[in-house]
Amino acid sequence: IEGMLADGPLSGQRILVTSGPTHEPIDPVRYIANRSSGSQGSAIARALAVQGADVVFVTGPADAERPQGVHIVEVQTAAEMLSAVKAVLPVNVAIFAAAVADWRVTSVSDSKIKKQNGAIPTLEFAENPDILATVSQMKTGRPELVVGFAAETDDVIAHATAKRLRKGCDWIVANDVSPETGIMGGSENAVTVISDAGAESWPRMGKEAVAHKLAERIAAALH
Ligand code: CTP
Ligand code: CA
Repeated sequence: IEGMLADGPLSGQRILVTSGPTHEPIDPVRYIANRSSGSQGSAIARALAVQGADVVFVTGPADAERPQGVHIVEVQTAAEMLSAVKAVLPVNVAIFAAAVADWRVTSVSDSKIKKQNGAIPTLEFAENPDILATVSQMKTGRPELVVGFAAETDDVIAHATAKRLRKGCDWIVANDVSPETGIMGGSENAVTVISDAGAESWPRMGKEAVAHKLAERIAAALH
């Protein structure tokens, strides 16, 4: 791959990246999901590979082009993503960029649910496992560095700071995805990286640039 460093700052590092949405089926033709193009996750995987990392990219059904030079694992649901992540461990670094659906439908219908003369169907949900929290709180074999994401629409820093502590990850990459920012679905991102050293806001830049800067920060943290 063009630009890939055999002996880069991240060579010898095995890094997991989750990306994209998950799809939680309702019946064979319907699902619930979060909005996620997967483009920030793809860019991060690509940037890490360029720096020499051995990257495993666990992705839900995202539109974004799959990164080259990484090992790709395709999943549909949150439960499948958790199993795939467990199978990939141990890793040196784990980055959770996926927009995992918070709930799944408890009883998925094997056949298409038909409209019934205006009667509205009721769906029952169960909470999905929190993949980031599961890995962050591992007692043995925890990655050296665990990075979560937090897409918020208000009180971004406060919510993301609380999320970091609740889940137990090392860093949270927070962003404001309010409709007026135009971040959601766009090619740019404006993030704040929160660690135990505090919150550092980066200027708005292309998602590839955010990925590159994050890869540099990770390399620096490991050395
Ligand atoms: N995440 C995860 N598994 C889940 C839900 C979230 O791994 N079931 C990860 C995401 O990949 C992200 C981080 O947790 O790195 C934060 O996701 P977010 O949806 O913001 O957190 P939640 O705890 O689900 O909070 P909220 O109620 O704001 O959705
Ligand atoms: Ca969520």
